[in-house]
Amino acid sequence: MRQLNLDLGEKSYPIYIGQGLLSQSELLTEHISGKQIMIVTNTTVAPLYLAQVKSLLADYQISTVILPDGEQYKTLDTVNLIFSALLEARFDRSCTLVALGGGVVGDMTGFAAASYQRGVNFIQIPTTLLSQVDSSVGGKTGVNHVLGKNMIGAFHQPKCVVIDVDTLDTLEDREYSAGMAEVIKYGLLGNVDFLHYLQNNIESLMARDKTIIIEAVYQSCEDKADIVAQDELEAGKRALLNLGHTFGHAIENTLGYGNYLHGEAISVGMLMAVRLSQLEGYVSDDVVDQTQDLLEKSNLPTSISGKITASDFMAAMSVDKKVIDGNIRLILLKELGDAFICDDYQQPLLNQVINDFCQ
Ligand code: NAD
Ligand code: GLY
Repeated sequence: MRQLNLDLGEKSYPIYIGQGLLSQSELLTEHISGKQIMIVTNTTVAPLYLAQVKSLLADYQISTVILPDGEQYKTLDTVNLIFSALLEARFDRSCTLVALGGGVVGDMTGFAAASYQRGVNFIQIPTTLLSQVDSSVGGKTGVNHVLGKNMIGAFHQPKCVVIDVDTLDTLEDREYSAGMAEVIKYGLLGNVDFLHYLQNNIESLMARDKTIIIEAVYQSCEDKADIVAQDELEAGKRALLNLGHTFGHAIENTLGYGNYLHGEAISVGMLMAVRLSQLEGYVSDDVVDQTQDLLEKSNLPTSISGKITASDFMAAMSVDKKVIDGNIRLILLKELGDAFICDDYQQPLLNQVINDFCQ
């Protein structure tokens, strides 16, 4: 097993990464203080891993909530199901919520933990590649609103993150690829050595070689933990983690959840960001080609397949948390492996990128 620490003073927590971790009860029990545990999962993950996780916690008062599966259920109504289960089971402030599932379950469970009785403990057991390398780490929690993705939420850090890469055995290929988008993101935005590692090992990673997966998950979590430790509440540097997200959220918001997985939308969004970086003169054509090549080798989309008009796309981009005082801030690349926050890009060049991708 490998271990990292997200360094946030009193809120610091460990991230455990390895195989067979869902057989090691102490990884969870060390971080549970009360007796009451609510495991939150969904209809897909419950039959796969719920019994195993329950068996690790046999000495506790365990309740479970099984949510409907899908990004379209990432809503306040669904979080209310968690609150109802907690209240019906008379859970008090010493309880712990355990998120067992992908980013949707993790984000909603974290949000429920942030707000139930003004905040209770929670633990992340992420079971998709995307949630293992991104959403389970860093304490962003929340739900979607019809007018915008992830618009309602809170920062609330888990007590620990247990990443058992064996859970990826049951993950569909398309979901695995979606997680690869976030893995590649870390290489592009701040770690060129990791990007080269990915380029050199992409075939093994796509063949799901566990040694390479563990290294990629570890490196991703280390990069994310490093940034979050410097800027927990996204006053500055943490925004770099949103590389491709303003474009990607516009794709999700205009084409609707379900057509594109989150990671797929981010894949196209990152390529759009790199293309704008090239038009702005920061990076060469070769950087665009290298990005596209790595995304394609990860079986990720690099163009928009649904119909979006450029004006709809621009309108959707304007409804994003990265918009400050009406200005859309974008994350661009200064060079491969070096991103920065940009708010003085040239509007005609942004329009050109949007027009090129929205045909
Ligand atoms: P997801 O949670 O919808 O999971 C994808 C699918 O895989 C679902 O059908 C799920 O039931 C299924 N699944 C989960 N684990 C499985 C397993 N081991 N075997 C088989 N099937 C499994 O999607 P996701 O990609 O994990 O997460 C996307 C969400 O994460 C989005 O809502 C996004 O906004 C959010 N997100 C949050 C952050 C953050 O910092 N909080 C960061 C990135 C993404
Ligand atoms: N996924 C972006 C962040 O956690 O800040």
